[in-house]
Parts: sequence; structure tokens; C-alpha cells
Amino acid sequence: MIKIAPSILSADFAAMGNAVRALKEQGADWVHFDVMDGNFVPNITFGPGMCKALRPYTDLPLDVHLMVEHPSDWIVPFKDAGADVVTIHVESQERHLHRALQQIHAQGMKAGVVLNPATPISACVHLLPECDLVLLMSVNPGFGGQSFIPETLRKIRELKAEINARGLDTLIEIDGGVNPETAKQCVEAGADVLVAGSAVFRAPDPKAMIQALRG
Ligand code: DX5
Ligand code: ZN
Repeated sequence: MIKIAPSILSADFAAMGNAVRALKEQGADWVHFDVMDGNFVPNITFGPGMCKALRPYTDLPLDVHLMVEHPSDWIVPFKDAGADVVTIHVESQERHLHRALQQIHAQGMKAGVVLNPATPISACVHLLPECDLVLLMSVNPGFGGQSFIPETLRKIRELKAEINARGLDTLIEIDGGVNPETAKQCVEAGADVLVAGSAVFRAPDPKAMIQALRG
């Protein structure tokens, strides 16, 4: 069963509580929460305070994508803010990714790594036993509304083969440029979780869009 994780980066920042509350009825599985620090990526969004404020608005899992240089500093603050899933970039300044994944698990959350479009799958294969999920960026991180990078499909197939070869059940999450057409291609290649920002929040009927993304 494919999971759809709308990214609130594309929601109305002035009406975030209501936007998050509506997602369950609209058929979302997770709420994707894009944290940007203005250093790792050229944009700044929101942090644990926003996560804590939104937690009462939904019982869907909060999927926190940390686009920050020092992700391990934010594991406990996001746990305290009610996060369920935390993913950290292999390209960040975190020197000890394996330990950071263990720290996320020690806080009782699901853990994963994120790979930028330029980063090969080999950067995460030895971390797979510590990963509940791997997020493959299908755009360069920082902004919503960009076009899907088709080379991602090859990366999904390669990662899926690595996961299967190890007998693991690691989920593959895709983030960026997901629309009904690219969603289908991602699922055929082996994706399990699809993040969608502009597709969902700019749709006249978000519920129908979420259904369309499921295929
Ligand atoms: C980009 C973010 C994405 C983004 C996706 O840095 O990680 O989650 O919101 O937006 P769309 O779906 O509009 O490409
Ligand atoms: Zn994201």
C-alpha cells in the first residue's frame, strides 16, 4: 500500500493548523514537514516549535525531513515536539550518520537517511540496516514546485535491489516533483512513500489529487 505524505511547505503558512487538520479526511497517510536552516539549503522554513503547535491538529504520523547542517542537534527537540519519523541528509555536516540514526531510534522514532539527486545509492547501502526508510530527493532540496528529475527512477530501482538483496523491508520515499504521472513511474520502480507539496496544496480538490497520486 503506497503512502502519500503531503508536504506542508506548500500549504498556507497563515492557516497551517486547518491545513494539517484537513489532511486526514483528504486521505493522506503522513504529514511531511520540511525543516530548512538557510545553510544546508538556501531557504528557511520552520522548526520544532511549529511541529509542537501542529501536533494537536492531527493524529497522522509527522514525517520530519531535516534539511539542516547539524541534524543530530534536532533529534530530541523534534521528539519532544511530537515527531514520528526523522530523516537526515547524508550530505549534512553530521560526521556520524550511523550513530545519529541510532539516536533517532533511541527516542522511539522511525529513522532514515536522505540522498540529494547528485548522491549515489552507495552512500546509504551500509546504513540500510539502521534505516526504516530512505528518502530519495527527486529535485534539489530547498523549494517546492520544481520538476521531477527522471534519473531518480534508476536510483529507486537500484535502491530497491539493494534492500531486497539484504532481505530488509526499508521503505523508499520520494520527494519532489511528484504528480500523478511521476507518482506512477516511482511506484512502478519500487517507491513506497510519495511526498507531494504543490500537487496536493495547489489542487482544486486535494482529496481527489491524493487519490490520483495513489494510482
Ligand atoms: C523540497 C522539499 C519537498 C517539497 C516538495 O526541498 O523537501 O518536500 O516540498 O514539493 P513539490 O511536491 O512541490 O515538488
Ligand atoms: Zn521534503
